[in-house]
Amino acid sequence: MEHNELPTPPVLSGAMPVVGHALEFLRNRPALLQRGQKEVGPVFTVKLGPQNVVVMIGPEYHRVFFMETDKKLNIATPYKFLKVTFGEVLFIAGHDEYLRQKPFITQAFRREKMIHYIEVMGREVQKWLDSLDDEGEFEIVDTMGRLAQTVAGNALMGEEFMARTGREFWDLYGDITAGIDPILPPNLPLPRFIRRDRARHDLLAILQPILEERRANPAGYNDFLQDFVNAEYSDTGEPIEDEVLLNLMLGLMFAGHETTAGQAAWNVILLLQHPDYLKLVQDEIAEKAPFGEPITGKTLHALTHMGYAVTETERLRPSADILLRDVDEEIEIGGYRVPAGWKVQVAGELAHRLPQYFDQPDYYDPLRYAPGREEDKADRFALIGFGGGTHKCTGMNFANNEISVITTLLLQQFDLELVTRKPEVQRGTGANRPTPTVVRYRRKPLPELAGAPAAAAEPVLAPVA
Ligand code: HEM
Repeated sequence: MEHNELPTPPVLSGAMPVVGHALEFLRNRPALLQRGQKEVGPVFTVKLGPQNVVVMIGPEYHRVFFMETDKKLNIATPYKFLKVTFGEVLFIAGHDEYLRQKPFITQAFRREKMIHYIEVMGREVQKWLDSLDDEGEFEIVDTMGRLAQTVAGNALMGEEFMARTGREFWDLYGDITAGIDPILPPNLPLPRFIRRDRARHDLLAILQPILEERRANPAGYNDFLQDFVNAEYSDTGEPIEDEVLLNLMLGLMFAGHETTAGQAAWNVILLLQHPDYLKLVQDEIAEKAPFGEPITGKTLHALTHMGYAVTETERLRPSADILLRDVDEEIEIGGYRVPAGWKVQVAGELAHRLPQYFDQPDYYDPLRYAPGREEDKADRFALIGFGGGTHKCTGMNFANNEISVITTLLLQQFDLELVTRKPEVQRGTGANRPTPTVVRYRRKPLPELAGAPAAAAEPVLAPVA
């Protein structure tokens, strides 16, 4: 059959006039997508109002989705509503600008830097643990949110900046992100859009003298901001403009902290819900990450059961459950024709439960990643919690390391119990997270230490997952 004679993917039943499946999508999108998968198969069309969206579930389709991005599929246009907030930055920038920025962004996440960021994570998590009473309760979702924000702030802008300007920064950041709106025209004279623009302006004004000082002191600080201040575009040799630096800080903060907070909370919750596996992790921590010794890349590498748990959290509770592209040029997917102007979507939350790839997929079983099973290795597009291809998450190691540091130090120093026994997934327009979940804690009797743990002599980073 000629390519252009192929049918378009079947439309899922139940589309209502005008709105199509939009209400069902908003009410319960995993249920809608699961219904599509059951009734139609791995590739089907849903109608969100007049928009045709092709959902494709399974590694063979993920491969097309990720490998055709920046060719027939467009990652930037579905997120164009973010431009007014974050500017021409990361993948929301045009493709040429994305390619100009990518080398120095990738550089900022290199191994040597990560060694330092693991130290930052350890320090910030320890400060939080030290602030807890000997026993009590905390709500883990908001707590992880604050912690991930603090870690991101300190790693991106530096500890000194955060200590001096942190409060003002977070207030302005809050005003900026509160103005994110995927539907309304971004320049309507609404109070929250006006606050967004004013906050961007004020933040740039705060940043400018700091950038001058940083430019005069290229070896003075060890954070993302300093790396970007020292960087230059490879095509022109020009330094990065002030406004792009602001955009990068905001964009990375946005990409990184809520996603990490959601999976960090789930990582702890899932462990507490599975005492047998928790015991393996606790024994491993006692042996390989005893209290008083600094957590380094080497420690995280040695915590293999923790690494499996973190991957199992990505599989079962991905913060980013669906990813979207615009179809710029007609494309063939699974024997169907998807015309230009349509959208395509992958749904990790469903694909991560395909029994062809994951044995008894609805069960929490981190040992599925252990030698001999290695279910994550069967197809490189089977697990897509961090995306795939060129745009695969730049912060994946950062996030997985952070989740491991948080969980390790918490379990090292506290006995925990879930008060909220069955948290659900809470979905929004941003990252998924658990519904509010209370955890009861009791500090373990631990040896007194003289002073803070010293930095390791020779840390070596390896991905935890
Ligand atoms: C558990 C935490 C995280 C999750 C689940 C996550 C998930 C993702 C996903 C799914 C993508 C690909 C989006 C797509 O293909 O449409 C992505 C891209 C990205 N993420 Fe993350 N992310 C996390 C943490 C972070 C952190 C901590 C940072 C930075 C500090 C970060 C920075 C980025 C960047 C810069 C991209 C764009 C990469 C590119 O276009 O080349 N992420 N992330």
